Amino acid sequence: MPNRKKIPIILDGDPGHDDAIAWVLAHASGRFHILAVTTAAGNQTIEKTTYNALRVCTLIGLHVPVAKGCRKPLLTEPMNAPSVHGESGLDGPALPEPAFDAQPEGAVELMARVIRNSEDKVTIVSTGPMTNTAAFLLAHPELKDRIERISMMGGGLALGNWTPAAEFNILVDPDAAKIVFESGVPILMAGLDVTEKALILPEDFERIRAQHNPVSDIVWQWLEFFYRFHRSIGYAGAPMHDPCAVMALIHPEIFTIRDYYVQIETCGDYCKGATVPDWYGLSGHVPNASCILDVDRKAFADLLVETIAVYGEKMP
Ligand code: RIB
Ligand code: CA
Repeated sequence: MPNRKKIPIILDGDPGHDDAIAWVLAHASGRFHILAVTTAAGNQTIEKTTYNALRVCTLIGLHVPVAKGCRKPLLTEPMNAPSVHGESGLDGPALPEPAFDAQPEGAVELMARVIRNSEDKVTIVSTGPMTNTAAFLLAHPELKDRIERISMMGGGLALGNWTPAAEFNILVDPDAAKIVFESGVPILMAGLDVTEKALILPEDFERIRAQHNPVSDIVWQWLEFFYRFHRSIGYAGAPMHDPCAVMALIHPEIFTIRDYYVQIETCGDYCKGATVPDWYGLSGHVPNASCILDVDRKAFADLLVETIAVYGEKMP
């Protein structure tokens, strides 16, 4: 395999079980130069997601700057998801206490610092509400062209998961999502259309559990916890929402991707937070997002299992 140049990225998320697994994947894949981690309020409060981020980074040996993000959405009130991720936001197995503190600067300032200083354009991997990314774009328009693209988990072209029309990440901060989708920065969108097909099955949990390395010992338990909620509503496995935003950067060949112009609904009684695709080009706008529609589930699962095994060979 040619020694490809690593993609410089910032991980922005609200860990969150699937955010944590996305970060486990990113770090062990060997394909990224992770410049920073920034935390969002979403699955839990910003304090809890920041504490969780520091614990996940400690667990996987990812010692990069971590900065706390915006405490609440740009305009709306915070929403959390304890029913899915628990009161801590990362319920389940005990995790190490953070080996280091968060940066004194906030997420927007850290994003600006690492993007400004990066030799190459930076990819933002957004796996929570997009408040930080929107705030960064508003505060630093001069750095917009230094962003390669935003690979994000959020939305659903055909469905929602928090309301019939809206997916959680977009619904928490639809105004932020609108700013990002209208920014002109290239977007790779992993919406529910694909993430609900990217299922890790109980048999895959066992493959990870059998690896018996310091990270696999935790990941299979995260999967078990995350699956508990989803099994109760009929899922055959744990949907790997956030890992799709990472895996699509590493292995786009296992996905089906189409370009559409996507608009964000920011108001309305029934459709607030919807990601509305212009399927037939009726808007006259050129596409603003590469939308992921499908995935080879077995290939996805095998790649995730194989990557987690890396933590047994050597910590990345
Ligand atoms: O709707 C799924 C998304 O909401 C994922 O990012 C999950 O972590 C939660 O934030
Ligand atoms: Ca998330």
